[in-house]
Amino acid sequence: METNHDWNAKLYDRKLAFVSGYGESLLDALRPRPGETVLDVGCGTGDLAKRIADAGAAVVGLDASPAMIEEARRKYPGLDFRVARAEAFALERQADAVFSNAALHWVTDAAGAAACMFAAAKPGGRLVAEFGGRGNVGAIVEAVETVLQDRFGIDAAARNPWYFPSVGEYASLLEDAGWEVSYAELYDRPTPLDGEDGLLAWLTAFAAPFFAGLSDADAARAKADVQDALAPRLFDEKNRVWTADYRRLRVAARKPSA
Ligand code: BEZ
Repeated sequence: METNHDWNAKLYDRKLAFVSGYGESLLDALRPRPGETVLDVGCGTGDLAKRIADAGAAVVGLDASPAMIEEARRKYPGLDFRVARAEAFALERQADAVFSNAALHWVTDAAGAAACMFAAAKPGGRLVAEFGGRGNVGAIVEAVETVLQDRFGIDAAARNPWYFPSVGEYASLLEDAGWEVSYAELYDRPTPLDGEDGLLAWLTAFAAPFFAGLSDADAARAKADVQDALAPRLFDEKNRVWTADYRRLRVAARKPSA
């Protein structure tokens, strides 16, 4: 779920389809059942919402990006997609399950999101979520910060749009919102990017807030410098593939029965 980021939904589907691809394993943890209502928070262009609907559940997909929701509605016109922020939404009826893949790291008001998701779940309802955890894309962030500081005197840390919590931090936050946390794991998931320009596409799609205010030429030069800095660690010369240093935080929780 984005904040002030101007999403390009087509680029997202074309170059970054791995986002929902990896979400397949999270669906196994969700195990949606026929007759259930499932809320997909940060549904992007709707691919996982479609998979949930295919399992027989009624799905409501939420995303803060109008462009994402427009594309989701175009792809899956029979499904219920709505523009809404994770930290500021209310539904007309509560869901059996709340699901979120690769979205909650965009929500800096994490306590607000935990409270909204809690209010949206039925008593006994479950939460299954995965997003970037502590240390996620650490090498990429470090390279961006170094390049922007050295080349432009920009304090990139102050522009960092992401929330990557630890297990302890996020489990406590969920508990404070009322959830009973049954599972939390932080794990490395090195993620191959698509094509030799995969890192550039990733920076353009996901890291735009760092480069805000730079001219197109300066932004292109900065991204090229980031690429050069990261090549020894993240580029496989032989197979010509970039691998992003993703770390995921996966959580499962339940709303206590009334
Ligand atoms: C992630 O899925 O971990 C991620 C995506 C975009 C920006 C930062 C992290």
